[in-house]
Amino acid sequence: MYNSKIIGLGKYLPDHVVTNDDLSKMMDTTDEWIQERTGIIERRWIVEGSEDTSATMGAKAAKIAIERSGLTKDDIDFIVFATLSPDYYFPGCGVQIQDILDMPTVGALDVRNQCSGFIYAVAVADQFIKTGMYRNVLVVGSEYHSGGLDKTTRGRGVTVIFGDGAGAAVLSRTEDNTKGILSSHLHSEGKYAEELTVIGPSIKHWVPEIIEANDAEDTSYYPYMNGTFVFKHAVVRFSEAIIEGLEANNLKKEDIAMLIPHQANLRISQFIQRKFGLRDDQVFNNIQKYGNTTAASVVIALTEAWEEGKIHDGDTVVLAAFGSGFTWGSVIMRW
Ligand code: UT7
Repeated sequence: MYNSKIIGLGKYLPDHVVTNDDLSKMMDTTDEWIQERTGIIERRWIVEGSEDTSATMGAKAAKIAIERSGLTKDDIDFIVFATLSPDYYFPGCGVQIQDILDMPTVGALDVRNQCSGFIYAVAVADQFIKTGMYRNVLVVGSEYHSGGLDKTTRGRGVTVIFGDGAGAAVLSRTEDNTKGILSSHLHSEGKYAEELTVIGPSIKHWVPEIIEANDAEDTSYYPYMNGTFVFKHAVVRFSEAIIEGLEANNLKKEDIAMLIPHQANLRISQFIQRKFGLRDDQVFNNIQKYGNTTAASVVIALTEAWEEGKIHDGDTVVLAAFGSGFTWGSVIMRW
């Protein structure tokens, strides 16, 4: 059995910054409310007419990750792409990465696990590498939220939270089993599917049906979130997933050098930080700048923490996420 190790990281954020004050011109909200409830100060939104999409942003992040890994696109054996905002209903964005980066005809798999998408994608990549099937796997998380948000007061409970962006990681085989991904832990609870969802367009609720109904009240094609309910589950599940990962590796909370939580809400990260008795420098947050970028959030944060020199050789790094599905999970790594 081999281990897999992250050997390259990259991120791409659209240039256009949207502040809380910008949002307060579109809907009934305030900088104070958003900062107090979420910690978010600004986020990036793709501007109309831009060529950025989930696939193209993912490709930009992937290019950087591959360059930094010291490999070339031709060395990548497999692509795993996590997003809830694909360019097409089908096919998924993974195949677009193969095309945009002009890669050989390697396999491309899309992961539909929303906020825990990157955790699931890393777990998949890790299994392919552990078994010896692939040597180098490209994992991408990318989201183009802003095109699908309700930018009126009706949508304010959701819209102020989400941002656009992408991140990517190259996972590669290592024969040193004390390094790299030590374990991953994945969970779901589908009875809560409709607590955080976009109902349509879907096979169940298709476009002609929505158009025919011509119902101004139909918000089924906008994200819906039962915020307080999701928050309560998030704090419990985050903790469980982290504890599960630590226990599986005989580690204690004191062993965590860096926790990268999914950037859902700064209050959730702070709750987890207090619960595990971690210092500020042991938990990485950048939701203040980028909002919640769903499947991209963990990999953007991991990339930024690494770029800022906050992750060192031999560190125990914990990734954890919770979101729509509900799905949640953790990844324990030794850097
Ligand atoms: O990433 C996937 C996982 N997602 C999460 O983990 C998110 C979890 N949930 C949350 O982060 C929080 O629940 C939110 C930030 C979404 C909302 O915060 P909250 O403290 O739970 O607020 P609330 O939904 O209970 O709303 C409180 C009040 C309501 O007004 P009333 O009914 O008390 O008069 C809302 O209508 O705040 C109102 N409100 C707003 N006011 C100003 C909701 N959104 C806004 C807004 N600006 N943007």
